[in-house]
Amino acid sequence: MNNITKICCIGAGYVGGPTMAVIAKKCPHIKVTVVDLNEQRIAAWNDPDVSNIPVYEPGLSEVVAEARGRNLFFSTDVESAIDEAEMIFISVNTPTKTYGAGKGQAADLKWIELCARQIARVAKDNKIIVEKSTLPVRTASAIKDILQHTGNGSQFQILSNPEFLAEGTAMEDLDAPDRVLIGGDSTAEGQNAVQALVDVYANWIPRERILTTNVWSSELSKLTANAFLAQRVSSINSLTELCEKTEANISEVAKAIGTDSRIGPKFLKASVGFGGSCFQKDILNLVYIAKSYGLDEVADYWEQVIIMNDHQKRRFANRIIKNLYNTVNGKKITFLGWAFKKDTNDTREAASIYVADHLLHEQADIAVFDPKVQAPQVYADLDYLRTREPAENKSGVTVVTDPYEACKGAHAIAILTEWDEFKGYDWQKIYDSMLKPAKVFDGRNLLDAAKLQEIGFQVWSIGSSI
Ligand code: NAD
Ligand code: UDX
Repeated sequence: MNNITKICCIGAGYVGGPTMAVIAKKCPHIKVTVVDLNEQRIAAWNDPDVSNIPVYEPGLSEVVAEARGRNLFFSTDVESAIDEAEMIFISVNTPTKTYGAGKGQAADLKWIELCARQIARVAKDNKIIVEKSTLPVRTASAIKDILQHTGNGSQFQILSNPEFLAEGTAMEDLDAPDRVLIGGDSTAEGQNAVQALVDVYANWIPRERILTTNVWSSELSKLTANAFLAQRVSSINSLTELCEKTEANISEVAKAIGTDSRIGPKFLKASVGFGGSCFQKDILNLVYIAKSYGLDEVADYWEQVIIMNDHQKRRFANRIIKNLYNTVNGKKITFLGWAFKKDTNDTREAASIYVADHLLHEQADIAVFDPKVQAPQVYADLDYLRTREPAENKSGVTVVTDPYEACKGAHAIAILTEWDEFKGYDWQKIYDSMLKPAKVFDGRNLLDAAKLQEIGFQVWSIGSSI
């Protein structure tokens, strides 16, 4: 089955949508159907106005506009798409379990299992199943076990092909990835399946960037790549606190460290803490897997990355409180940014949510402005924590669609997301409209602190003693 002409992807989310859009663009000879149970999401992907597609990624709407209806389709008819496809990507969510054994650490694989059972029920011929979701090492054996019992003689090959795209740069990452990783069985059938997927990617990716491994190495590499990346952020963030005590400057320290070619300059940007749907979930999952093999020291080592990240978010909120004379009760604090990073509308695990929650405990009045996040999402994020009644979140937080309006009458501004547009605001106008002393807490080291101080702001940038 080396010549793939029909692909189905189960899961039309932040990974399934962009990934399949790029495959469809690069492989006009392949029909790509993306399916999801969520009718609203599929309707949004099919919205005639491409600016309404449910995932905001620079460059994505253009690709959807080009390929949709030609060889890219979005549908809720999961069964037909499975039936028709030769290759099925599983790209459903794998969040941290919120109940039962492994609660708070293990990955919840119920959606993965549902997909496997649905494929087993529907498939009438041989298929290649591709794990695109991030999964605990050895999940492929569970999927195989389910698929082997269909009773109709169909043969399935399970490949692991984890996705390394980062949100906000997904289209560039998919267009020119550092590598594509494909894990498969060492049997002849397994290697044929690997080759079929290699051939799909080889339509635009140089062959030397396509790595092939066994299934388990591929599954484990994804979890550990995220753990390594997050570890760098926690490492640099751990030093911000030390910089603040010693008058060392975190940006200077990061540059000095990162110019060592063995270390490298990327992923050393100090912040209010990492967010996103992947880092925390994947490290917790790694911790759980290590513990389940009795590897307590390994588990403790990686758990520290999360402990440091939680500390960083809490520390930022406490810094605001302390600096506002130990009380924020009734004080307006403006959040510029709610998304977990710039250039995305995704807010999952964003540091802003936890900083807001902490400040709401202290009865602050929070105003939020984010260029791509709307009010219902902000309230949903806070309500999801279940720390207080939804009505209390509504009364404590106002979501504003104009940044200048958001800052008017505020005691302080907190920068939670590094949106480029914040740098170009009229900061004199903002200063004039605020209560004095007007304070800025820059959780991303985004703004020019010296310029703001010239205007009259009191500025605190993370990892700096000013
Ligand atoms: P998402 O929540 O945005 O999308 C998942 C989609 O799957 C949802 O729309 C959901 O309705 C759908 N779904 C769930 N079960 C289904 C079923 N049985 N049938 C049909 N549809 C179903 O998630 P995401 O961010 O796209 O992540 C998907 C996977 O990719 C996760 O394992 C994640 O860890 C991994 N990943 C994510 C990123 C990222 O940047 N978001 C990057 C790399 C890997
Ligand atoms: C991450 C991985 O990078 C990607 O390879 C994987 O496929 C999915 O998870 P993503 O979460 O989308 O991607 O974004 P990423 O750029 O990794 O940022 C994650 C968080 O770390 C963000 O909150 C970001 O602001 C923060 N971060 C990143 C820092 O605080 N400092 C840095 O130097 C880099």
